[in-house]
Amino acid sequence: MKKLSLTIAILIYCIFNLYAQSKNTAQLTVHANEGKTTISKHIYGHFSEHLGRCIYGGIWVGEDSEIPNIQGYRKDVFEALKKLNIPNLRWPGGCFADEYHWKDGIGPRENRPEMINTHWGGVVEDNSFGTHEFLDFCKLLETEPYICGNVGSGSVEEMSDWVEYINFEGKSPMADLRRENGKLDTWGVKYWGVGNESWGCGGNMTPEYYANEYRRYATYARNYGKNRLYKVAGGANSWDLKWTEVLMKNVPNRMMDGISLHYYTVPNTWRKKGSATEFDEKDYFITLKKAGQMDELISQHSTIMDKYDKDKRIGLIVDEWGTWYDVEPGTNPGFLYQQNSMRDALSAGMTLNIFNNHAERVKMANIAQTVNVLQAVILTDKTRMILTPTYHVYDLYQPHMEATLLPYHLESPDYIFDGDAQESVSISCSKSKDGTINITLVNIDPNNSLQLDCNVVGKETKKVTGRVITATNINDHNTFDDPDKIVISGFKDFKISKGKIEAVLPAKSVVLLQVR
Ligand code: AHR
Repeated sequence: MKKLSLTIAILIYCIFNLYAQSKNTAQLTVHANEGKTTISKHIYGHFSEHLGRCIYGGIWVGEDSEIPNIQGYRKDVFEALKKLNIPNLRWPGGCFADEYHWKDGIGPRENRPEMINTHWGGVVEDNSFGTHEFLDFCKLLETEPYICGNVGSGSVEEMSDWVEYINFEGKSPMADLRRENGKLDTWGVKYWGVGNESWGCGGNMTPEYYANEYRRYATYARNYGKNRLYKVAGGANSWDLKWTEVLMKNVPNRMMDGISLHYYTVPNTWRKKGSATEFDEKDYFITLKKAGQMDELISQHSTIMDKYDKDKRIGLIVDEWGTWYDVEPGTNPGFLYQQNSMRDALSAGMTLNIFNNHAERVKMANIAQTVNVLQAVILTDKTRMILTPTYHVYDLYQPHMEATLLPYHLESPDYIFDGDAQESVSISCSKSKDGTINITLVNIDPNNSLQLDCNVVGKETKKVTGRVITATNINDHNTFDDPDKIVISGFKDFKISKGKIEAVLPAKSVVLLQVR
């Protein structure tokens, strides 16, 4: 009898799935009153490295530039970032962090020494953008700075001095030097990374060796005054689970607050990654499939972390992620400048949903990189600036910051291409402090719209609003001549029927539904 009921249940489930598949319908139930975890606003963080035109030309043009600026910072870029309410900004790298000597970037600019940026194009770095320029920019933006110290070619003393220079209020050699350079009070920087990719460009270390180094560096990165440092250990390269295991095991729990993880979505191989705009549905399918692997990646690293930190005190900090394509034809290969299409909007929407859903463990994430590099939210060309489709996704997702993550149940069809399948819908749901329910949905199917039936349990669905990002073609993108091809529009393709929301999600779209 038991066997028979099980067979019938399986049969009903299969029939339902087949029906959903053929009709392209999805059933969603959101539980409005069952949230427990806060989605850290720091999941919506950014990353700016001394790489190509990210800092120079992208953020910093100097006070004497013909490009409109505020104390040397590009005005248009500043205003665009301000509108996003970016919660934090990681700097100065990346690989650059492990060859950066911060003392070269303070004091009168004309006295600052030059160096070669060996990682990125071998160009001359004149150090005109240094500690003061970065921290004053963060202050102006009202965003939290996240500084990455130099473990690869620096010293414990150098990093310790940097913390003292920035955070110590009293009288000390470094605090006096800061005051000499015109900054009387401290900046009170909380977030500090201890090296970057120490398994690779940051020193080619073994995890055991790095774990010891981490302990030395972290010991001398002091808390001053009321400021408690949030120290992030340089974590794994994507699927290197052993790196996470060794750090968790060899570094005492209380010595680190976060452990980083880097994962880039590369459609093909590192040698031939693929074009940012000239791609077909096969490349599109692969790119989104690889972007979606972030979910499994986080689960696997979290499982290891759980063994040593069952209360999830230590954050998984995904401080580099995004799509990585071949550079735009004709641009410096060391500058990593790439365009950004509807495909990137979908991969960003999907990845941010994944981070939200892992909010218990993922406490911060930083897309690579803010301006003109990799999956940038902003592109500039001399005096001109455009916002990329990825920018608009960050804008759309703002309501999730510091909201309570809500559980949901979703039955949806697959997106099938060439005999391979992946989930067609990605979703995350949250409840804002004022009670608004935020549902972000990504329909990655490029050919079919999706009928969504949504039931919000525990909240009346009287007042619903929607916004959408979509495009005609998967490779549509904004250009300097056509900057608004992809923007956020009002979404009206839904109705309320018997207390439920019935919506039609366009093919290749990112949608925000809000129930107030
Ligand atoms: O974001 C570009 C580079 O990618 C960073 O400098 C490095 O950390 C990573 O390998």
